[in-house]
Order: sequence, then structure tokens, then C-alpha cells
Amino acid sequence: MSKRVPWILLVLLVAVSMLLSACGAQATQTPAAKQQVEVFSWWTGGGEAAGLEAMQKVFNAKYPDIEFVNAAVAGGTGTNARAVLATRLQAGQAPDSWQGHAGQELIGTYVAANQLEPLNFLYEQEGWLKVMPETLIPLISKDGNIYSVPVNIHRANVLWYNPGILEKNGIAVPGSLDEWFAAMDSLKAAGMDAPLAMGEQWTAMHLMETVLLASLGPDKYNALWDGSLDWGSAEVKAGLEAFNKVLTYTNSDAASLTWQDASQLVVNGDAAFNVMGDWAEGYFKELKKTPKTDFGWAPVPGTAGTFQFLSDSFVLPVNAPHRDAAIAWLTICGSKEGQDAFNPVKGSIPARSDGDKSLYDEYLQSAMADWAKDRIVGSLAHGVVANDSWKNEINTALGIFLTDKNVDAFQALLVTACASSGPCK
Ligand code: GAL
Repeated sequence: MSKRVPWILLVLLVAVSMLLSACGAQATQTPAAKQQVEVFSWWTGGGEAAGLEAMQKVFNAKYPDIEFVNAAVAGGTGTNARAVLATRLQAGQAPDSWQGHAGQELIGTYVAANQLEPLNFLYEQEGWLKVMPETLIPLISKDGNIYSVPVNIHRANVLWYNPGILEKNGIAVPGSLDEWFAAMDSLKAAGMDAPLAMGEQWTAMHLMETVLLASLGPDKYNALWDGSLDWGSAEVKAGLEAFNKVLTYTNSDAASLTWQDASQLVVNGDAAFNVMGDWAEGYFKELKKTPKTDFGWAPVPGTAGTFQFLSDSFVLPVNAPHRDAAIAWLTICGSKEGQDAFNPVKGSIPARSDGDKSLYDEYLQSAMADWAKDRIVGSLAHGVVANDSWKNEINTALGIFLTDKNVDAFQALLVTACASSGPCK
């Protein structure tokens, strides 16, 4: 036995050193052998992956030597993906580019933490300042530096409805919160327990921001985010009460449903309404549903004339592992060809002002018209108006409210959140 040990040790030592040198060789060879770009998002299904794939095709055709590595993590509005991203960034393992919302999510989170490279050079090179909307540039800039490439404009305040159900019950599409409540009361009386489909908690935040907009109007809604409207005011209380009432029409299993599950309840005829961003349209198309027959749309009651928006954009991290390939990807994200491939499938309109309208369906053409003429305000749930720490505090308060439905306690927590992480200091 004592004689054998050194033999085994020697064999093990040789095996381990062979393995290590193989790994070392691989590590130094990979970048030279094949360029790659790792793109991080939360677009994994339900109309979203299909949009990303369409843009990836444009990328592959233009850059056949760069391998596109899709690092998407499932979960609506990036709830899971952003947690994974945070862990990776902390460990110094940034992907080459990631999806980030234009607005405070970008500026108050990633830019504030010095995690991104400015992209002014790319904007100049590609002539993007001439085609990207003026509304957007300040939301992706700080101190004269531009930090992301927006691929789209999504609308948050959309009421999706089932036209057949409304017709059968003699209900007109509601234009105000009161009309909406009346419509849902009749549906309840007709035996539909939960006329408004809702999903997991972020979809409740999405619903809340649209109801606050309806109740406060665009000026006061904006004032919430710059600290000029008191979160403790009677107006905010009225908005939260309206939201509380809206919640009484929702399904009791909301917490266990994804946004796709909730949207599907409408086209399946199990609910009459759902408030969701227009990525729901991309999903309906994937389900082969017909606009105006299987689903209809309108601004969330009380918000006509206002376009509550968000924009998906992609970034270049400081020390991107494959910087040149990341820049190539961003070039496609900002291109007309890339945006016109991605958006008609994703259910969004191009961020660029020169998209080819004929490629977009009826809903999307109506969104383009509204984007051009409506009053524009930003979304909370999708990163425009509040940075991550403020939004997280609001989300914690919302979680408690969804259980106890105590408006006063909720409002008090929102006052505290604005004072500790928002502009109410
Ligand atoms: C939003 C995102 C959209 C869509 C949605 C649902 O935050 O901007 O593109 O992905 O989440 O996942």
C-alpha cells in the first residue's frame, strides 16, 4: 500500500496538470477563434423571444463572424433577469450588452454606478441624433453623455378587452374610471367573478401607475416623480382608493400568473379586460389572434390623450468582454433595419422616427399616431420615472397593500419611500 500511493499521486498530478493546461489553452484561444457577443435580456417567450430573434437574424446576416450568445433570463419586466445581472456585475462578469429601460433605471442605477461607457461616438458615426426622438435623448443622457441605444417605444396604459364579451353584455368601451367600474359591475352581475385579469406583483404595479395617471391627470402624475406633488396629499389618496377599487375586480390567483397568463384570460374569454403594455399585442399575434375580433384596445379609462411610455434600450458596459462585437450589436439595435425587424413582432413601435409604417399592423400604426400627438409621460414599473431603490421601496409597500388593502398605511409608506429614496428629501 505504502508503495502504491506515490504512483496514484503521480497519475493524478499528471491528469490534473493536463486538464489545467487544456483549459488554459482554451481560455486563450476562444476570443481569437470566434468572436462572440453575449446579449442579456428577459425576452424568452410569449412574443418577446420572437422579436429578439428577428433582430438577431439581421445581426447574423451583417456580422456572420460573430456568434450571438443569447443570455436571456425568463420573467416579465426583468424581475429575475435584473437580479441575475446585478449578481454578475458584482462578480465582475458583465455580459457584452444588456437590456435596460431608458430613464431613471439607466441613469439613476447603472450610470450612477459608473457601469456604462458613453456612446456619443456611435451616435455621431451612425447619425442617430437626427432620427432618435428628442423626448428620449435626455432620458438616456447624463452630463452630455449618451448611455444607451433605444430599440423601441412601448405603451404602458393600454386596456385590452374582449370585444365579444362587451358586445354580448351591451357594454361600450369605457372612457373613464367610473364607466369602467360600471362596466365591471354589470359583468360581475352577469356572473363573471373577475372581469379584470391581473398577474404577478409587477403587473399590479403596472396597473397602479395607469390608475394613478387616470385619477391624477398627466401634470400631477408627473409631479409625483419630481417631488412637487405631496405623496401624502388628498389627490394621491383618491388615486390609491381608485386603485383599491380596481383591484376588487381582479382574479384571486393573480400572484401565480405571468403577464402572458393574465393576457390570455382575455382572448380566451375568461376575463373582459387586462391592463398591460403593448407587448401583449406581440403575444396575441403569436397566439394567432385577430385584432378587433379576438382582442380590442383603448387607452386605460381616464388616460386618453396621454401616452405612458417606456423604452427598451441596450448598453455598452465598461470593460465589455467583447467590446467590438458589443458595438456591432448596438449598431444593429439602432439601425432602421434592426428596428423594423424587431418591433412589428415585439408589439412595439420603433424608437427611430423613420420606421417603415407599412410593416406595422393596425394596432401599432395607431400607437405610432398616438406617440406623435399625445402627451408623453413615463412608466414606473418599467424604469422611466424612478431609480431602482425608489421603485423597490414602492414595490415593497405595494406587496403589503396587496395583502392588507389598507390605503392609509400604503400611502404612509409611499410618503416615506419618496423621502428616503425619491426627490422628497
Ligand atoms: C418590459 C419590457 C418589455 C417587455 C415587458 C414584459 O419591462 O420593457 O419589452 O419585455 O417588460 O416582459
